[in-house]
Amino acid sequence: MSIDFLEKRGRWKSQTGFIMAAVGSAVGLGNIWRFSYMAHENGGGAFLIPYVIALLTVGIPLLVLEFGIGHERIGSAPLAFAKISEKWEWLGWWAVTFVMFGIALYYCVIIAWCINFVVFSFNLSWGGDPDLFFFKSFLGTTAGPESVGHVRTPILFSLMLVWFVNWFVVYQGVEKGIEQANKLFIPLLFVLMLVLIVWGLTLEGAKTGIMAYLTPDFHKLMTPKVWINAYSQIFFSLSLGFGIMIAYASYLPEKSDITKDALATALADCGFSIMAGFGVFAILGYMAQASQQPIENVVTESIGLAFVVYPKAISLLPGGSVFGILFFLSLTFAGLSSSISILEAFSSALMDKFHFNRKPTVSILCVLGFLGGVIFVTGGGLFWLDIVDHFISHYGLVLVGILECILVGWFFHIAKIRNHINKVSSLRLGSWWEGLIKYFVPLVLTIILLSDLIKEGSHPYGNYSWTAIILIGRDWLLFTLIIAFILSRRPWRTEAHRTKGRSDAP
Ligand code: PHE
Repeated sequence: MSIDFLEKRGRWKSQTGFIMAAVGSAVGLGNIWRFSYMAHENGGGAFLIPYVIALLTVGIPLLVLEFGIGHERIGSAPLAFAKISEKWEWLGWWAVTFVMFGIALYYCVIIAWCINFVVFSFNLSWGGDPDLFFFKSFLGTTAGPESVGHVRTPILFSLMLVWFVNWFVVYQGVEKGIEQANKLFIPLLFVLMLVLIVWGLTLEGAKTGIMAYLTPDFHKLMTPKVWINAYSQIFFSLSLGFGIMIAYASYLPEKSDITKDALATALADCGFSIMAGFGVFAILGYMAQASQQPIENVVTESIGLAFVVYPKAISLLPGGSVFGILFFLSLTFAGLSSSISILEAFSSALMDKFHFNRKPTVSILCVLGFLGGVIFVTGGGLFWLDIVDHFISHYGLVLVGILECILVGWFFHIAKIRNHINKVSSLRLGSWWEGLIKYFVPLVLTIILLSDLIKEGSHPYGNYSWTAIILIGRDWLLFTLIIAFILSRRPWRTEAHRTKGRSDAP
């Protein structure tokens, strides 16, 4: 591999920098607003059993695989897959395309809401009815996805800010941009979260909340759904199937401890989720107590949790403004470090294949990302977001996960990747790892996929019309697939795909 090519691609300055960036991608909104609800719904403390098993049998093995592919083949997802088999280049493009022109578009809109809510926290702008405030005054939600309504200007401005930050960071490259930004965001995020948790735990009612979060119900473990939820949560949380971890690992120097880095990333991600759960449920407990309701009435997840229930709690809390500012800032930082990783995964794919320069590539992508996000800033945006997210995260990501295991496990010498990983890492992989990648991981992911497909057929997701589901959800995913095929058919402007992997080197 020519020194020039490697030089041009960029490289992490330190192992810690790489881990911070990988953790930055993995720790996102999902860790804060989804994990603890999952635990609460799926057996409380007992959920930790399927969760840890999912981590050990799918999360870490797949993260090691993605790090391994990126490091050994030295390339973003399309390049790395093309170097395994030219016929499979499309798979890499598909991952980075639906992630960039799907997930990133709406994910950045959610970060934009968080920024608006940082400002709203100063004077508790949501007033006495946060529900009405969020859905009507702020989002201007229409009757359904068919009527898009108007563009919401305040959201548009903060969306511009989000894409500006994405641009500012990724424009400066791997070491000076992404590594530096994550070295700032991640410690900041951990400190903010710690303050929120300690604050939460001192409130009256916190104990009721924690009980709701962690009281184990071992019977639930007999339900297959609980296991499916644990596996999907791990898969999404570790940013697997996004093509991100492959790109990030491709910037590692020759001497890198792949298994140890994967372990550190996975543990930091799961540890963060578990910790954040204490903060989330302490506040829910406080809220139940302060408003004299049973805790079940206040427990929710995702958007409803962050933008409706939390504002309610913040209004009740002495010093609520400060709490609100810290909370929405944490979400913003958690979100930004993930959106940056998406932008990098797509930019690096373009640069690898077409020999584009970083600066114009990143600039154009940010403009496109901003413009593409506008649909989610309209009155119908919330519905669009919900549908597109459902399809991409349930089908796109999981399919990529299955196919990458099949590609490497069945059509490539997976032993080669394992030998490479073992050569550079301190913790060695046994042949059990190959078994997991070849059989177990694709099997589990296929079960998840089938269980979702069956549900899909029986009734339309979220009670939307079939037309909306098909045109917005399914076709969005299909459209990204077409783009991926087109991109993979374009001729290579570099010789990168002909170069060898690290373990082929003489
Ligand atoms: N792991 C992220 C989360 O939990 C998922 C994600 C990664 C989303 C990258 C967007 C971008 O939120």
